[in-house]
Amino acid sequence: MERAAVVLEEAAQRLADNYPYFHPLYAGQMLKPAHPVAQAAYALAMTLNPNNHALDGGRASSQMEVEAVREIAAMFGWSQFLGHLTSGGTFANLEALWVAGQMAPGKKILASDQAHYTHSRIGAVLKLPYASVATDDRGRMDLAALESALALGDVGTVVATLGTTAVGTVDPLDRILELKEQYGFRLHVDAAYGGYFRLASTLADDAERAFAAMGEADSIVVDPHKHGLQPYGCGCVLFRDPAMGRWYKHDSPYTYFTSSELHLGEISLECSRAGASAVALWATQRLLPLVRGGAFARGLEQGREAALRLHRHIAADLHCLPGPTPELDIVVWAVRAPSIAESSQRAQKIFETAAQSDLHLALARLPGRYFHGADWRDPGQDVTCLRSVLMKPEHLHWIPEIWVRLQQAAAEAA
Ligand SMILES: Cc1ncc(COP(=O)(O)O)c(C=O)c1O
Repeated sequence: MERAAVVLEEAAQRLADNYPYFHPLYAGQMLKPAHPVAQAAYALAMTLNPNNHALDGGRASSQMEVEAVREIAAMFGWSQFLGHLTSGGTFANLEALWVAGQMAPGKKILASDQAHYTHSRIGAVLKLPYASVATDDRGRMDLAALESALALGDVGTVVATLGTTAVGTVDPLDRILELKEQYGFRLHVDAAYGGYFRLASTLADDAERAFAAMGEADSIVVDPHKHGLQPYGCGCVLFRDPAMGRWYKHDSPYTYFTSSELHLGEISLECSRAGASAVALWATQRLLPLVRGGAFARGLEQGREAALRLHRHIAADLHCLPGPTPELDIVVWAVRAPSIAESSQRAQKIFETAAQSDLHLALARLPGRYFHGADWRDPGQDVTCLRSVLMKPEHLHWIPEIWVRLQQAAAEAA
């Protein structure tokens, strides 16, 4: 016990070298602690350490996974579907695109140039051709560019991102579905970050229409470990057609003996998976049901309101060049400067100076044309800009303080 105490003390000391993710002044990347109930339920399940591969490894936790995933699918109006948890968004997207590749072997995957880089990597892993589609000045997939790419032919799958990683923009899914009618491709929605915003009642019309259309996609990815208040190791993939289970069909000489009921390993590419993730998710959703108007949905709305307020401050400040109006809860802005190189340098300086006063922001490289009021020679070139993910409801009450610190950092950096 004494040795254990020493080791744990050492671990605690080591962990002090981290950013304060729980604090509203941490407003950088997509990071926040899991909900306390998720942490407690996870720890509780760890007394057993269940494995949701086969029912032998996690009987109760497999059932809890089925129930929790059913509630996620219900957000998109799906009652008959196929789905399961994964270790994260990358693996969930891999499974969706693997199934897409089985349906259309050798055909191209298209995604916007703001789609997560995981898609082109997955394309390489699956040996499927991949091409990116240009975005408009708001960072959303450009429909004319998509149509030109479709006209070239040989497209198997289009990936629409609802909540892009850098900017939080929402591809116009409703309009992309119209093109699906015409060109006939498989439509996958990567809503790893944004999926839960289906429950928000305060989205702008464009985003609302895109989220309302999610039920018509062929597959959807949502990450409980991003906006679902979960510990890492929790993504989710859903297929509208339960018959997609046929692609997963395999036999195991040593696993599926205890029950003729479905073992989740029979519909998942990963074998061992943390049953504790399912228990944590199930408990969180019991406490905070996935419904419009509920406490969980209000938390998302508060993050979006925080982003809109910060964006308004930025838009009114002569030293800043605001990026697109936030569709979700992410804000990007560039520093007004005569050139892209100088603007980028100043953003880096502000990022570092703000961190010294405990305001933790992020940086991103984005096309100069996203920033309103910039008169750079080549607006198509990338600029390093500041980025803030306001994904904690508490951010809303901290916007005045965040803005004061940001202005101080900008003044000091200048
Ligand atoms: C839109 C989107 N898709 C996929 C991913 C990859 O997810 P993960 O990091 O859980 O593997 C991310 C991560 O930020 C994301 O934002």
